[in-house]
Amino acid sequence: MALYTKAAEILEKVERKEGAVKTLVYESKFQNIKQLYALVCETQKYSSVLQDIIISTKLLKETKLKMNLAKVLLYDFLIGQGLKCGGSWKAVMMKHRSRLQAALARMKVKKKVSRNQDLLPPGIRKASEDQLPRYVRVNTLKTTMEDVIDYFKREGFSYQGQAARLDDLRSLSGKTFLCDQHLPELLVFPPKMDFHAHFLYQAGHIVLQDKASCLPAYLLNPPPGAHVLDACAAPGNKTSQLAAIMGNKGKLVAFDLDAKRLSTMSTLLLRAGVTCQQLANQDFLKVDPESPEYRGVEYILLDPSCSGSGMVCLRDSSPAPPQEEEARLQALAAFQLRCLNHALRFPRLQRLVYSTCSVHKQENEEVVSAGLQQNEGYRLIPVLPSWPERGLEPLTQCLRASTTHTLTHGFFVALLERRPPSSEDAAPMQLSTTASSPEISVSNENWEAGTVSLDQDAAEGNKGKKKKKKRKGNTKSQC
Ligand SMILES: C[S@@+](CC[C@H](N)C(=O)[O-])C[C@H]1O[C@@H](n2cnc3c(N)ncnc32)[C@H](O)[C@@H]1O
Repeated sequence: MALYTKAAEILEKVERKEGAVKTLVYESKFQNIKQLYALVCETQKYSSVLQDIIISTKLLKETKLKMNLAKVLLYDFLIGQGLKCGGSWKAVMMKHRSRLQAALARMKVKKKVSRNQDLLPPGIRKASEDQLPRYVRVNTLKTTMEDVIDYFKREGFSYQGQAARLDDLRSLSGKTFLCDQHLPELLVFPPKMDFHAHFLYQAGHIVLQDKASCLPAYLLNPPPGAHVLDACAAPGNKTSQLAAIMGNKGKLVAFDLDAKRLSTMSTLLLRAGVTCQQLANQDFLKVDPESPEYRGVEYILLDPSCSGSGMVCLRDSSPAPPQEEEARLQALAAFQLRCLNHALRFPRLQRLVYSTCSVHKQENEEVVSAGLQQNEGYRLIPVLPSWPERGLEPLTQCLRASTTHTLTHGFFVALLERRPPSSEDAAPMQLSTTASSPEISVSNENWEAGTVSLDQDAAEGNKGKKKKKKRKGNTKSQC
C-alpha cells in the first residue's frame, strides 16, 4: 500500500512543480527507492493512456480513488508486473478488472496496435527508458571485468565480446551481454534487465549507471595519488567511479549542499569500497580555492544541478509555459557558470570536466563558452573522436549524448585544461586510443616548472594504467 500512496503523492507534487521526480523520490524516505522511482516514471510515461481508461470506465466515481492513486494502481494492474498490494485496493481493481481490461483492449484496436508501448505518444515511445540498454559499470575497487563476466556466464548469460557499433547494443536480447565499445569497464545488457536484487549489485561489485553518466569521471581520468574535487557530488556514482580510477589512492573531496543526498552517498560509497574520499556537506561556491586544504587541487569534476531535461523519465509531459521555462533555464545557467568560474580559480587546477544531464544549450555549450571567455587560461580539449554525437557548433570538442544517437540518457560533457603559460597553444596531439586510456588530445609540451604538469600527470597516470592493464591482461583481451 505504501508504495502506491507514496507514488501518488510524488505525482501530485510533480504536478504542483514542487520538485523533480528523482529528488522527490529520494526525499520520500521510502525503503525501496528504485521500485518507487520506476513506478512513478512508468506511470508518468503512460499518464495519458491511464487517464483515458480511468475516464472512460468512470473509475474514480465507482471507487472514490483520487486520480493519481488510480493511475499508479492501474499502471501496475494493467501494464506493469501486477499489483504489489492486497487489501481493499486490490479488491477494487479486481472488481472492475474486466471493464478495465476491455477499455485497454479497445484502445489498442482503435489505434491498430498490439503492444502497450505502442499506445504511447511518439515522442515518449522513442525516448522510453525501458528501451535503453541496461548499463553495468564494473567496480574495479572490488572486482575485475574478467570475474564479473565469468559470474554472469555461470548464471547462463551469453557473453558476446566487445561491441563494435551502436547496433550491437540495439540488437541485444534475452540473456546476452556485451562489453561497451567506448568505456572499458562497462557491460551492456538488454533493456529492462533488473539487477537491483543481484548479489553483485548488493555487494558493490557492479554499479548500475547510465553509460553517458560514466563519461565525466572516465574523461577526467585522475591518476592514483591525485588531489581531486567532486564539486556537486551526491548521490555519488561519479565519485565512486573517480575513486576506482584512482585505485583509492589520493585525495578525493566530495561536496554537496544536501545533507540527505550526502548520507545516501555515504552508504553508496561504503558499498563500493571507496576509502580515499572526504565528504563535505558544504556549498562548493564558498570553498576557498587558496586555502591550504584546497590549493593543491589538480582535478575537478563539476556536475552541477541542472534541469535534468536529458533524463528520459523526467521529461515533463506538460512543460511549463515558455517564459517560465526560459527563466528557470537562465537561473540554472547562471548558477552553473558561477560554479564553473569558481572551479577555474583553483591555482593548481590542471583539468576540469563539466557535465550536465540537460539537453539545453543554455546549460551546456553556452555555460562552457562563457566560462572560457572569462577564464582565458583554460581551453577545451577534444575528447573521444569516435563518439557519435558532438557538442553544438562551434564546441564540437565536447560530447553530447541522447537516446537516439548514443542509446543513453541525454547528457553533455566538456573537458577543460589549463593552457600552457606560453602565448601560442601547442597543436593538440592525438593520443593513440586504448580501452584503458580515454581518447583525449593533450598538448605536446611541458609547462609550469614547479607545478605538476598535465603531461607529467598523464604520463604518471598512464604508467599506473599500464601496470593495471598488465595485472588485468585477460580482462582486457575479453573486451
Ligand atoms: C546533478 S546532481 C550531482 C550528481 C552526482 N554528480 C552523481 O553523479 O551522483 C547535483 C548536486 O549538486 C548539489 N548542489 C547544488 N548546489 C550546490 C552547491 N552550491 N555546492 C555543492 N553542491 C551543490 C545538489 O544537492 C545535487 O546533489
